[in-house]
Amino acid sequence: MPPFNFIQLADPQFGMSASLSSRPDAEIADMASRGLRVRRVAPFEGFGPETAAFEEAIAQANRLRPEFVVVCGDMVNDPDSSDERAEVLRIAGQLDPSIPIHWVAGNHDVGADTVVPTPASMKAYRDVWGDDFFSFQREDVSFIVLNTSVMDHPEQVPGELESQMRFLEAELRTARKRDSSQIIVFTHYPFFLESPEEGDGYFTVAKERRMPVIELFRKYGVSAVFAGHWHRNNYAEDDGMLMVATGPVGFPLGDDPSGYRVVEVHDGGVKHEYHELVKGQPAAGDEE
Ligand SMILES: [Fe+2]
Repeated sequence: MPPFNFIQLADPQFGMSASLSSRPDAEIADMASRGLRVRRVAPFEGFGPETAAFEEAIAQANRLRPEFVVVCGDMVNDPDSSDERAEVLRIAGQLDPSIPIHWVAGNHDVGADTVVPTPASMKAYRDVWGDDFFSFQREDVSFIVLNTSVMDHPEQVPGELESQMRFLEAELRTARKRDSSQIIVFTHYPFFLESPEEGDGYFTVAKERRMPVIELFRKYGVSAVFAGHWHRNNYAEDDGMLMVATGPVGFPLGDDPSGYRVVEVHDGGVKHEYHELVKGQPAAGDEE
């Protein structure tokens, strides 16, 4: 198989910077106590920083000409904001039409309260962004996209988790029958930050529903999962499977700057590298 590249983006999250700019100090301090470092700026409205970063990411994709671009969730900050949605789609429209773009459901896109999906929020998501779980193929590599918000909080959408799990196992089986050289999965939440056995937390899929998925990944030999949500980079592994959380196109919450990941897929594995998006951007956590 000739090697090919794809570009992974995560968390453009239009509107997040402005929303954080007007939060009270106590809330920012509470976030800091949970390891989420917010650089304070004067209050503003709109989504200027996200527009600049996402436009640059799309420009880089047009320059690098990957096989596809995948956006691993949290396209918007407010799932009910048609302005935020329209701006994401306007800029995505600048991508060369020969390069497909795949959307992955994030909690801010598909959760009614930015966490828990409901029948109405699932419908609203699908009407704008398309299917929330699906698969596609490039060369002899199988790619599977999952909705980890439903995996984390299935309680208000009966039947959704079960149908997604049936889909996942069927796709994995098909990939193996097809003799795929690799199976690569895209999600918003990483399944774990250090090890599959770790406990529950805001940044990962609840353990009770994480482990059955991990068992399937092990059984069918998934080679890598690329996710977002943490607004910083994180690299973990389970039995040879990479679990990569990629830093944000939008607002950083750790030391990593806003950026994008270029992944080279070749026989037997992937090589991937995170690239800074906005040169000269102050590091998150710097106080003004
Ligand atoms: Fe998220």
